[in-house]
Order: sequence, then structure tokens, then C-alpha cells
Amino acid sequence: MVNYKDLGLVNTREMFKRAVAGGYAIPAFNFNTMEQMQAIVMAAVETKSPVIMQVSKGARNYANATILRYMAEGAVAYAKELGCAHPEIVLHLDHGDSFELCKDCIDMGFSSVMIDGSHLPYEENVALAKKVVEYAHQFDVTVEAELGVLAGVEDEVSAAESHYTKPEEVIDFATRTGCDSLAISIGTSHGAHKFTPEQCTLVNGVLVPPPLAFDILHEIEKKLPGFPIVLHGSSSVPMDEVNTINQYGGKLEAAIGIPEEQLREASKSAVCKINIDSDSRLAMTAAIRKHLAEHPGDFDPRQYLKPARENMKKMYIHKIVNVLGSDGKLAQ
Ligand code: 13P
Repeated sequence: MVNYKDLGLVNTREMFKRAVAGGYAIPAFNFNTMEQMQAIVMAAVETKSPVIMQVSKGARNYANATILRYMAEGAVAYAKELGCAHPEIVLHLDHGDSFELCKDCIDMGFSSVMIDGSHLPYEENVALAKKVVEYAHQFDVTVEAELGVLAGVEDEVSAAESHYTKPEEVIDFATRTGCDSLAISIGTSHGAHKFTPEQCTLVNGVLVPPPLAFDILHEIEKKLPGFPIVLHGSSSVPMDEVNTINQYGGKLEAAIGIPEEQLREASKSAVCKINIDSDSRLAMTAAIRKHLAEHPGDFDPRQYLKPARENMKKMYIHKIVNVLGSDGKLAQ
């Protein structure tokens, strides 16, 4: 049994309280490689931002659970080495699909877990989330639960269509489960293909997707004042990265994300955690494809992973400073 506090990590409670009150959101970046972890830490330190490093079940299987726990401990030490005296880094399980997985993560040093029972019948979702909360809170680990279903593919969790969160359910759900934050469905979805071109409007040659359901978000906020809300599926799928990938041999057709203005607006509300994974994948792939196309003789991974890391770091800093507004928000 490893307690996250011994690894120098923090849970989400205090940073969410400050984010809701301050009208900004904490970035939750998915990672499974050393370069992603380094880029996340460098970006958080440079911008003086709290940060959530999250791993899905698939990422744990890819990177190995033991290695990830040491990577998180290493992330804290690295942030200090880069000059941040009091880093606020959360290690969070993204889309936990069972009590056993959540328990395993808590026992291995995670400071926050998500239990995703959103695909289950309501009462089963409540019972599962409550069970995870009861275990997690013994160790001061915070728990995110979800109501409403997001469309798209997130490692092993996938759904064909989305179902918006029903505001009339949130008080009962939050009260009975005791969860610390609530992920909701208001029109975001996982992956780099969030909308079909038919769902979008063509404005000055650019496909603009339908707006998020801010009316549902505001209704939820009214029912649960000050309660931390989470947005999954919040990559913007930057066209310059998609174009670079396609220019250098990739084939990403009709990739469409959530416009950053909408995420900026959501950050000012009770939305205090915004999940971004696909944008990091795109930034990494674009830089690697470009480097290898321009330097066909290179075969040392450092030659192409260094620009990939730089490109991800640039993207993370942009999100923190220009979209979520969490820069300069460390407690001390
Ligand atoms: P994106 O695919 O939009 O990056 O969403 C990631 C996410 O929500 C992880 O839980």
C-alpha cells in the first residue's frame, strides 16, 4: 500500500475549490509516455499551474502500473528540480470501470480516481460510485463520478451516441454517492472526430460544430452551487496539427474538435477540470511525422521525440494560459 502523500502528490479538493471560486479550470492531461510526462511537468512549472496527470486503464496496461506510479513520483521531483518549490500534481485514474481497478490505483499511490458508471442504469451507477467513494475517502483520495454518456472512444470505453446529463438527477446523485466532482455530458465527446461535417456549419471555409449545451451546464450549476464539474472530451483538434500530419503522410479526415472559445467560457463556470488527451496525441504525431519526413536518415528516437516533446509542451502551455486560465494559480 502506497499513500499518494508519500509521493508528494495532492488530491483535487483544494485546487477545485479555488478553481470554482476563481472562474478557471485545472488542466487534466492524459499521459502514458515519459515525453508526455516531461512536457506536462515543464508546462505546469513554467506557468505556475496546478495540474492533473491522468491515466486510463488502457494507458496503465500500456505503460505498466508500477512504472506509472514511479513516473508520478518522478514528476513531483522533476517539478521541484525545475524550480517549483510546492508543485500541485494530481495522479488521477481516468474512466475507472470497476471498484477493483479504483482500489488498485488507490493502493498504488493515485490521489484521485474516476469511477465511470455512466453507462449503467442509474441506481447501479449510484451504488458503484458510493462504494468507490467509501473506500477512497478513508485515504483522503478524491473521486470523480459521471452522469450522462459521452459519445466516442476512450480506450476501452466507447459509446455510439451521447445522452446529455439530466439536471434533475444531479442533486440526488451527488448527495447519495458523496462524490467530490461530477463529469457531465453537454456535447463534448472523446477522440479527434467529435462531429461529422454534416453536423457543422461552414463559416468562412471553416467547419464550426454545434455549441455545447450551456443551458444544461447552467441548470446543473444552479442545482449544485459551487460543486466541481468536469468536462471530458475537450480537445480542440487544432487544424495546424491535423494539416501537418496530413502533409507528411498521415490521413486524418474530417477531424473536428471543440472550439477553444467554448472551453474558455466553460472554464469560467463551475467547470473546474477539463480533460485533454487527443490534442497531445496530435501534437506528438505531427512533430514526429514532420521530423522523420524532413530527416529520413534519422533513427535515434531522441532526434524525433525531442521536437515531439517541445510541440506538446507548447500546446499544454497554450491550453493553460489561453484557454483554461490556471496559470499562476498555485497555492504557494
Ligand atoms: P479528448 O479525446 O477530447 O482529448 O478527451 C479526453 C478525455 O476526455 C479523457 O477522459
